[in-house]
Amino acid sequence: MDETPNIRTFVLKPEQEIPFLAGQFVELTVPGFGEAPFTPSSSHFRRETFEMTIMKVGRATGALFSLQPGDVVGARGPFGTPYPLQRFEGKDIYIVGGGVGLAPLRALFLALTHEPDKYGRIFLRYGARTPQDIVYRSLIPEWQKIPKVDLDLSVDVSDEKWMKRVGVVTCLMDDIPCDEKKSIAVVCGPPIMMKFVNQRLVDAGFQAENIYLSMETNMSCGVGQCRHCRLGPYLTCKDGPVLTWAQIKDIENPFV
Ligand SMILES: Cc1cc2nc3c(=O)[nH]c(=O)nc-3n(C[C@H](O)[C@H](O)[C@H](O)COP(=O)(O)OP(=O)(O)OC[C@H]3O[C@@H](n4cnc5c(N)ncnc54)[C@H](O)[C@@H]3O)c2cc1C
Ligand code: FES
Repeated sequence: MDETPNIRTFVLKPEQEIPFLAGQFVELTVPGFGEAPFTPSSSHFRRETFEMTIMKVGRATGALFSLQPGDVVGARGPFGTPYPLQRFEGKDIYIVGGGVGLAPLRALFLALTHEPDKYGRIFLRYGARTPQDIVYRSLIPEWQKIPKVDLDLSVDVSDEKWMKRVGVVTCLMDDIPCDEKKSIAVVCGPPIMMKFVNQRLVDAGFQAENIYLSMETNMSCGVGQCRHCRLGPYLTCKDGPVLTWAQIKDIENPFV
């Protein structure tokens, strides 16, 4: 399904189940074009098929966009550390996404809303460049109806039909409607967005160990061998890709 002009959601049917949990990633190979990591965007409660929402940026992603239904790709995984959902129990969850960064967050959102009694309220704040760049446009109206979910959107540049906020996603964070001292924040998006959203969360009083950031550094092996994905003392393919602000705050320029 085409989400935007350059972002598409692919449905994959693995020969053998890939037992991923929200936050983990899978390495996809397009034969002849290479391998790249992507995070499943569908619910981990359903694994006979899974979805990946992918932005076309280069060689492997370009090749993925030229595949036809029924074509075969390679997949290995799951890799990385999932969101620690047990730690989230009983707490309000404040999720902030930017651009295609909503893809990994969708897997988390679906896991949380699958067992709503376990968690507090779920706040989802999402920013895209323009209304045409919003992913999951057909799903968002349904998400807004889910009890305990509070969702708000912004775009950097509006069109004549846009009725919501205009501005970068931090414009949705002036009023944070949960207890910052106790709540969990989860962020995924482009590095510059992560930097400013994280700063806003810290300023608002979120605890460093309660801010979860998707640190999608360059990866190669995906299994802790090549060290391409090193971020300070961490290998993001093994220790991440989700790391807390408490873990990375002493690293120089973590958002590059
Ligand atoms: C753990 C992890 C999870 C990821 N999950 C997703 C996901 O769910 N969906 C998704 O779309 N992407 C995701 N990515 C990013 C994805 O892996 C890259 O976009 C992909 O590797 C690009 O491969 P390529 O061969 O198409 O591009 P390349 O040919 O390697 O790169 C071509 C050009 O695009 C630039 N480029 C590479 N990646 C990006 C990017 N993300 N944004 C803008 N420019 C880029 C490069 O700098 C280069 O100039 C994830 C990355 C990691 C590490
Ligand atoms: S990608 Fe090779 S060590 Fe992380």
